[in-house]
Amino acid sequence: MLLIGVDLGTSAVKLLLMDEEGKILNIVSREYPLYFPQPGWSEQNPEDWYRQAMDGIRELTKDCDKSQVAGIGCGGQMHGLVALDKDDQVIRPAILWNDGRTSEETDYLNQEIGKDKLSQYTANIAFAGFTAPKILWMRKNEPENFAKICKIMLPKDYLAYRLSGSFCTDVSDASGMLLMDVQHKCWSEKMMEVCGISKRQLPKLYESFEAVGTLKSDVAAELGLSSAVKVVAGAGDNAAAAVGTGTVGDGMCNISLGTSGTIFISSEKFRVDENNALHSFAHADGYYHLMGCMLSAASCNKWWMEDILNTREYAKEQSAIERLGENRVFYLPYLMGERSPHNDPKARAMFIGMTMDTTREEMTQAALEGVTFGLRDSLEVARSLGISIDRTKICGGGAKSPLWKKIIANVMNLKVDVMESEEGPALGGAMLAAVACGAFGSVKEAADKLVKVVDTIEPEPELAAKYQERYEKFCQIYPTVKELFRNLAE
Ligand code: XUL
Repeated sequence: MLLIGVDLGTSAVKLLLMDEEGKILNIVSREYPLYFPQPGWSEQNPEDWYRQAMDGIRELTKDCDKSQVAGIGCGGQMHGLVALDKDDQVIRPAILWNDGRTSEETDYLNQEIGKDKLSQYTANIAFAGFTAPKILWMRKNEPENFAKICKIMLPKDYLAYRLSGSFCTDVSDASGMLLMDVQHKCWSEKMMEVCGISKRQLPKLYESFEAVGTLKSDVAAELGLSSAVKVVAGAGDNAAAAVGTGTVGDGMCNISLGTSGTIFISSEKFRVDENNALHSFAHADGYYHLMGCMLSAASCNKWWMEDILNTREYAKEQSAIERLGENRVFYLPYLMGERSPHNDPKARAMFIGMTMDTTREEMTQAALEGVTFGLRDSLEVARSLGISIDRTKICGGGAKSPLWKKIIANVMNLKVDVMESEEGPALGGAMLAAVACGAFGSVKEAADKLVKVVDTIEPEPELAAKYQERYEKFCQIYPTVKELFRNLAE
């Protein structure tokens, strides 16, 4: 049996072909454009996702026995608003997870409807990137488009819809819409009322490891695959990545260093933090998780390296960094505003603390450290809830850097487990497909059998102590400049 895992990311779609023993046979990636039509806005064309995914699947499977392909599972960028009209045409470009245009709608939800009510209805409060504030934005700013909406879906659900014709989503991704009652895994009537939409416009909810249908015959013919191939509900990319790193069951942790940065804590029990600083979402294994999300993580490093230093030699730049824990330069990693834990779309990035002898290496180091301090902010919220974590898995593009992994282990004071495969969401998608196709009895069983830890980075007490001091200084920066960001945005 062969399984296809898809990671519908922000910069590219990554596809992976795996057998039921977990052996990865091929990996393919296809890029598509990301548009920033106004400062703080972020959009993509769903047709680009579909075309590139179809091309990618064809290339991925070109040398395999296509009759063996049994299922396709997708992990996708979360929260994006994809709206279709009565003829199934996309009404406007998708508004993505890192789009910050909805501060008015977010304030309305959190202040007028009220955080308590939102938390009671959905287990979460409003963040600018979530789907419900985007629906409100469209209602106010593009009423003619709002009036045309027949179907509302998330990015990966658009792909599943085009592949299978099934108007569906899964509970992990749907958790990030602010429309679902996460604890009971059903759409919230109250939230539909708040947004002026009806259940008819929302997809059917599935667990992530359930099949939602099979390939449409024309799509199957175009791909040269059987129309019996199962299309699986899949998961939000973070839940899929967690499956791919074996972060399932209770009390496990995964850090993802992609365009966004997340810290993901799996839980068999539903729980909400008092201030809703962490997201309380359903997991792809049938249970729940808490998650903190930074809007710019590896993208801060990429921006610094490629746009500012004009180089792609990541390893070379990092090899000159020697004095860990002693950097006097700090970096606030809020290039796209910030989600967890500050919930501030107006926050911006900054370097602070440079002197005449500050070096290029210290600035590069500050960028890596700033993102890590930002992730630690969310870890501290989890610790304040009494959750005790002493180790984490890691995935995403940033996890390829040995230096960054060392910084993470010491800033967070966690053991960092490195997996045999870093293909987080795509691997998770393939594993979910394997469960749906009957190769495993549960997501936990698939994770226990398929995921292997190959290395562990231990924190060093002396370095962790130095970073503790640095982190305490970092914590003073954002509260000091917060008001300034507000003034600058006006
Ligand atoms: C999670 C989030 C991001 C995107 C990135 O809440 O917004 O991690 O899912 O694709």
